[in-house]
Amino acid sequence: MVPVHCEPVTADTYEAVMALDVLPGQRDYVAPNVRSLADAWACPAAEPLALREGAELVGFALLKPAADVPGTVSLCRYMIDHRFQGRRLGHAGLTAVLDRARAAGYTRVRLSVVPGNHVAFRLYRTAGFGETGELEDGEIVLARDLTPDDAAMS
Ligand SMILES: CC(C)(COP(=O)(O)OP(=O)(O)OC[C@H]1O[C@@H](n2cnc3c(N)ncnc32)[C@H](O)[C@@H]1OP(=O)(O)O)[C@@H](O)C(=O)NCCC(=O)NCCS
Repeated sequence: MVPVHCEPVTADTYEAVMALDVLPGQRDYVAPNVRSLADAWACPAAEPLALREGAELVGFALLKPAADVPGTVSLCRYMIDHRFQGRRLGHAGLTAVLDRARAAGYTRVRLSVVPGNHVAFRLYRTAGFGETGELEDGEIVLARDLTPDDAAMS
C-alpha cells in the first residue's frame, strides 16, 4: 500500500488544501474544499484533514462526530486531487483516515455516496463499508465498524 498520511489542516496548509480539485465530471460528488473548510469552521468538533504522500499534498478528508450517535464519526468529505487519482492513493488515504478515527476512539464510521459514483462505491466496499439501507439527501449511506484488529490489517 502506498503510504499516505493524514494530518490536521493548519494555517500553513489551508490555502493548498483549497487549491486541490476533482475532475469537472466529479463536482457533483463532493463539495469544494473551501466549502468543507467553512463547514469545519462552523463545527468545532469537525476535523479537516490534509492527505499527504511524502511532501506532496494529494487529498482532503473531513471527519465529524455523528450527532446523537456516540462512538460514530461521519466521513463527510473525501477527495483525491485529479492529478493524483488512479494511483491507489484513495485506498491508502482512506486507510490513514480510518486509522485516525480508530485511534481517536471511534467504533463506527458513516458516509454517503451520490448514486452513480462508481469509483467511490468501489473504494468504500473494498474498505469494508456496506449499505445501511438509508438515504440522506438522496445519497446512499454506507457504514462500517472499526475494531482494534482492523488496524493490524490496514
Ligand atoms: C473516489 C476517489 C477518492 C478515489 O481516489 P483514487 O485515488 O482515484 O482511487 P484509487 O486509485 O485508490 O482506486 C480506487 C478504486 O477505484 C478504481 N478506479 C480509480 N479510478 C477509476 C476510474 N477513473 N475509473 C474506474 N475505476 C477507477 C480503482 O481501480 C480502484 O478499484 P480497486 O480497488 O478494485 O482496484 C477519487 O476518485 C475522487 O476524489 N473522486 C471525486 C470525489 C469523490 O467522489 N469523493 C467521494 C465522495 S463520497
